[in-house]
Amino acid sequence: MAPSLNSTLEANGNSSNDGKSPDVNWEEMGFSLTPTDYMYVMKCSIGDNFSQGSLIPFGNIELSPCSGILNYGQGLFEGLKAYRKEDGRILLFRPEQNALRMKAGAERLCMPSPSIEQFVDAVKQAVLANERWVPPFGKGSMYVRPLLMGSGASLGLGPAPEYTFLVYVSPVGSYHKGQRSLNLVVEEKQHRASPGGTGGIKTVANYSPVLDALTRAKAQGFSEVLFLDATTGKYIDEGSACNIFSVKGNSISTPPTHGTILPGITRKSIIEIARKLGYQVEERPVALDELLDADEVFCTGTAVVVTSIGSVTHQGRRVEYKTQADTVCQKLRETLTGIQMGGLEDTMGWMVEVN
Ligand code: COI
Repeated sequence: MAPSLNSTLEANGNSSNDGKSPDVNWEEMGFSLTPTDYMYVMKCSIGDNFSQGSLIPFGNIELSPCSGILNYGQGLFEGLKAYRKEDGRILLFRPEQNALRMKAGAERLCMPSPSIEQFVDAVKQAVLANERWVPPFGKGSMYVRPLLMGSGASLGLGPAPEYTFLVYVSPVGSYHKGQRSLNLVVEEKQHRASPGGTGGIKTVANYSPVLDALTRAKAQGFSEVLFLDATTGKYIDEGSACNIFSVKGNSISTPPTHGTILPGITRKSIIEIARKLGYQVEERPVALDELLDADEVFCTGTAVVVTSIGSVTHQGRRVEYKTQADTVCQKLRETLTGIQMGGLEDTMGWMVEVN
């Protein structure tokens, strides 16, 4: 039986959890883990459907050394945010979109997945159980990280016999704290995804291969890496943790998602907002040469939200772009975050109330 919230109050060493505000300096928060009180866990065997999950104290999990996730990278993650409105209500941004993306990824990796309703319900339960960790209005958000993994043991290569769906949460601030715009460097040796591969799903295995390029970029003072397509090396792919948009006049372009590009939910929302605001938006291959000739470049993602790119460096040549005031990026960001924080009317029906 699921432990009740009260019976697990002592379990987390993080705090006494007396329901009061945690001792967090919300102003100083960046994007790092603050352990919270509970996480949601649900298990299922291969061939079965997920049925009953529960909240347990946040903490380490036990896995077979032979599990599918540890040996063969059979795993997916999601990322979405909960926001506290000025009136105290807590809202999620398009959680069903994350559920759908996890479902698509699970099919690609031969895993069962929770239903859309189960996913959204689990996210709501995890956020509500950790409600005191949702930052006050305007002071950040709660990042929600659903995981789906092959947790059963499988020595030979094949789908794991058992799966775990887990949702943990952490209050977060800005992903690139202290940087109002980012400086990208074009990666020329490595690619993050190739046609027919898994670039279009949010598998955990897409993220460690970018670490080498990201680490080298950071060592040289850049904030992010811009990957190119693996076939011709002429077109932009993504950043290590974000989708990329190019702006020229009234026209906004971003690479299409059929192929290697992750179908970002912020990406999709920004396209919808931009079209509503009257911009011409094209989802098509964007040549690096075109990007280097753009008026503006920006990136999107749950973690990065919508962030201006101040420069792109390619083969030692640094191209600078318009940032800050009166940019397309700023308009789109203000509209999106206005909807997310509750300052603007949610005419698209994107926000889902938690409590
Ligand atoms: C997100 O934006 O939620 C992501 O998944 C990026 C992650 C690498 C921090």
